Amino acid sequence: MTRIVNLGVLASGSGSNLQSLIDNIEKGALPAAIRVLVSNNPSAFALERAKKHGIPTAVIEHGGFARREDYDRRIVDALNDRGVELVVLAGFMRVLSAYFLRSFPMRVMNIHPALLPSFPGTHGQKKAFDYGVKFSGCTVHFVDEGVDTGPIIIQAVVPVCDTDTEETLSRRILKEEHRIYPEAIKLYAEGKLLVEGRKVRILDHPLPEDSPRHNPPVTDF
Ligand code: GRF
Repeated sequence: MTRIVNLGVLASGSGSNLQSLIDNIEKGALPAAIRVLVSNNPSAFALERAKKHGIPTAVIEHGGFARREDYDRRIVDALNDRGVELVVLAGFMRVLSAYFLRSFPMRVMNIHPALLPSFPGTHGQKKAFDYGVKFSGCTVHFVDEGVDTGPIIIQAVVPVCDTDTEETLSRRILKEEHRIYPEAIKLYAEGKLLVEGRKVRILDHPLPEDSPRHNPPVTDF
């Protein structure tokens, strides 16, 4: 039987990814429990979402700390107090210190709205759109000390259409974020993620035979 994983979710904004985790947990599709939602932003809508579902919240504002590590220590304490095993970054707009990552080694996940290693950092959707790529997508990865550089767990690809705007592309990507984040956490809960250096091997979860994708479609030469 799959065990229940205790999650701590960190969010700074709207929290739609948080909502997708809540919804999947509540319908029994994701064997996890959100023990606490931490935000650095007192007006983050993610806080409302958590409260509505009876999830404990903690607002820890980042102003007034001399060092990044001092701030992170507060968050780590809040997570440990709630027995958190896996930290889930869901639009948390801060870089984590080495202290934080040492406290949860290979136990911090992030979702990024582009196909890493392309377009790391903020505004991944816009960077991909402006670049003119034909496909973009999203990436769930373990967090290391770089910015969006950790071992990749799962990616989803979406096409970029000629009629797209940055907004329509972002919506298409976000829809996939809401699918792959719960999936990555489920694989973690099932003990199916094996980190080998930069690579994450997914046990017992083979990719079905598939054809390559093209955008635009290509003639059948
Ligand atoms: C998402 O685009 C995610 O990829 C990025 O931050 C955004 C968070 O959105 N890391 P939401 O707050 O979950 O709606």
